[in-house]
Amino acid sequence: MTYQFILSEKIKRVGLLRINRPKVLNALNGELLAELAQALEEYDKAPEIGAMVITGDDRAFAAGADIKEMAEMSSVDMLLRDRISSSWDRLRAIKKPLIAAVSGWCLGGGNELAIACDMIVASQSAVFGQPELNLGIFPGGGATQRLPRTVGKAISMEMVLNNRTLDAEEALHYGLVNYVYPLDEYLEKALTMANEIAARAPIAIQLAKQAVNRAFETHLAEGVNDERQAFYLLFSTVDQKEGMQAFIEKRTAEWKGR
Ligand code: CAA
Repeated sequence: MTYQFILSEKIKRVGLLRINRPKVLNALNGELLAELAQALEEYDKAPEIGAMVITGDDRAFAAGADIKEMAEMSSVDMLLRDRISSSWDRLRAIKKPLIAAVSGWCLGGGNELAIACDMIVASQSAVFGQPELNLGIFPGGGATQRLPRTVGKAISMEMVLNNRTLDAEEALHYGLVNYVYPLDEYLEKALTMANEIAARAPIAIQLAKQAVNRAFETHLAEGVNDERQAFYLLFSTVDQKEGMQAFIEKRTAEWKGR
């Protein structure tokens, strides 16, 4: 499948998706988001793929939603088009692990895309921010909810209300990103991490991602209950038997994804 605004390639067991609008710092227009959702859904179904990496280029992961596309829209246009439900909810439904490999500008909807992924690997030049107030709007792609759950209320309020940006080291300090690497290494490191995860037992990975995400979506008792049900379910998989037998026999497990 070829796309207009993204580049897609398989690297071992990882699907790599590059946002590809360099002239506008990878601003996210509606078609790009739809392409991204479709490519992710295809990799989600592909048995040879175990994880996906979303990246931009060295200068920008994405400088936000496409302002020129939105500038003249009315509330009714926005509501009828409902790009947030049509693309972002599809992204949230992806079952395999998603890693954002972020360099340069990661702003507005770009930051919301990164924090909707499961992990972030950043280059030293990454800059994270929510500058929407500058445009007379506020974040509409999940940042008011996901950011406080990630970096806490104080920093989120500053980012959303006063355009505070975080450089890569600050983002690491506040728990927004997993790792920071030099510019010439961050993508390779993200791919290595994704391939490591992709080599693990597929059903356990899928349920583990779902269980951790439940921690942000429900209260403790319900989340712990969901965790327990999924944990018991794993004992009906071939991979649980194989994983434990391999441990006992002191050999490497061979996962079947069944
Ligand atoms: N939408 C559309 N075009 C954008 C864009 C965006 N979000 N960000 C950058 N561009 C375009 C610029 O218009 C410019 O195009 P032209 O060459 O045709 O003029 C090109 O990308 C390069 O940008 P700059 O010349 O501005 O580059 P710079 O290095 O001087 O500045 C920047 C970089 C600080 C990131 C600046 O481009 C900027 O402030 N961009 C907008 C960031 C922003 O406000 N993002 C939030 C968008 S709203 C949103 O995301 C809503 C939501 O929550 C879903």
